[in-house]
Amino acid sequence: MLVVDLGGQYSQLIARRVREARVYSELVSHRSTVDELKRRRPAALILSGGPASVYEVGAPRVDPALFDLGVPTLGICYGAQLLALELGGRVDRTGTSEFGRTQLTASGGELFTGLEAEQTVWMSHRDTVVEPPSGARIVAASPSTPVAAFEDERRRLYGVQFHPEVVHTPHGQDVLENFLYDVAGIDALWTPAAVIDEQVERIRAQVGSDRVLCALSGGVDSAVAALLVHRAIGDRLTCVFVDHGLLRKGEAEQVVETFGGHFHVPLVHVRAQERFLARLAGVVDPEEKRKRIGEEFIRVFEEEARALGDVRWLVQGTLYSDVIESGGTDGVAETIKSHHNVGGLPDDMEMELVEPLRLLFKDEVRRVGEELGLPERMVWRQPFPGPGLAIRIIGEVTEERLEALREADAILQEEIRRAGLYRDLWQSFCVLPAIRSVGVQGDSRTYGYPIAIRAVTSEDAMTADWARLPYDLVELVASRLVNEIPAVNRVVLDVTSKPPATIEWE
Ligand code: XMP
Repeated sequence: MLVVDLGGQYSQLIARRVREARVYSELVSHRSTVDELKRRRPAALILSGGPASVYEVGAPRVDPALFDLGVPTLGICYGAQLLALELGGRVDRTGTSEFGRTQLTASGGELFTGLEAEQTVWMSHRDTVVEPPSGARIVAASPSTPVAAFEDERRRLYGVQFHPEVVHTPHGQDVLENFLYDVAGIDALWTPAAVIDEQVERIRAQVGSDRVLCALSGGVDSAVAALLVHRAIGDRLTCVFVDHGLLRKGEAEQVVETFGGHFHVPLVHVRAQERFLARLAGVVDPEEKRKRIGEEFIRVFEEEARALGDVRWLVQGTLYSDVIESGGTDGVAETIKSHHNVGGLPDDMEMELVEPLRLLFKDEVRRVGEELGLPERMVWRQPFPGPGLAIRIIGEVTEERLEALREADAILQEEIRRAGLYRDLWQSFCVLPAIRSVGVQGDSRTYGYPIAIRAVTSEDAMTADWARLPYDLVELVASRLVNEIPAVNRVVLDVTSKPPATIEWE
């Protein structure tokens, strides 16, 4: 199923929701020609939302011949207005706009089969369809939008003014599923198991009998990519885990245990802590830290790759959102900050890429990881920056500070998990600003490091809110931190959102 991207902020979300309904979907540019779309043989089309008005100069349009293909088509918001406009309906600038939750009354219609006539939906529009396309009938209305949904069952053209893809439309997923299953007759076959089978086939076809190399980072993407390739070609895959000593407590061991031990993936574990620490000695500037870690990573990885002899292929955990954001469909709002990741490999490495996650969204990667038997901790690990704890020590990175921060972070994680909050938080971690403040313990004064607790909720890291952790939890963590870590004598809680702060401290 294809989502024609008309530039709306929710286009990517629509594609994700369709996949949640276990139907494979891709975003395509509205500039695609009808022939190009036809060649893809879509089982259905969705026209996404778009700019404020269909009457704006340069507003995206689609070739009306699209509507004669006989492919079931659902227009959402702007997409519905385009349908109406192109097919003899009328779209007006009524002067009233509708934003936010509103009550919808459905009157029959295939899209609303099995649903209550009255339901809450999310609207966000200025222009309004005042007359549906000729041949279509009105199947839902809201107080300020008399044509909130229309259907032309004969031509299989459907339009909704509201946004079924957002969580503020509680039955939105049902509406989408009615469209996919009942209207378009698509079977729900896109399951993690099916993804695995398909990727395994593709990988085999791509690499033949060659050898493949993969850099493991400890994160879910590289782990799932590696397991998929391993399932496809077995021991012809070699994983290299560059252990820079900047991971959290227990993470390096977990990578080694999971891949080398449990899955029996040929694994080269490079213990490079000392090399990285030496490169970080005396460095306080965050960008300089990132640069040095990145360079050292490449150096170590290249050495290992050379030692393995002639390997033609390199696994990379590129995700579908990366593909879209690098200009894939022309018009999608950028939603995720792309970071020059550690693990980013040099352009001049003459290897060809295997990208088994290229078609997957992050939540799908997690589900595939679960299906492949990856441990829960790895599957659900919160995002963690490539340069790791080095950018959570504000100041020079030393072994003593790393040790204190690693212990602090382990305590925070343990309590957050125990409180059942780990998955609700986008990220939760400790920061160690390398300053000292006075404290008193027993009869003597101390001069120790503070630890800052940073916990945020977020959708995509572009914006974030500080998490309202329960005070009892904060107190418990704070007292454990000062009691169990001799170098720490003070704990502070970061209560800034992003913007104006960022998630990390440097
Ligand atoms: P900020 O601090 O900019 O972070 O709000 C947004 C997201 O990016 C992560 N982050 C990084 N990830 N290398 C990475 O791989 C980095 O240098 C880096 N800096 C920040 C951060 O953890 C958050 O998820």
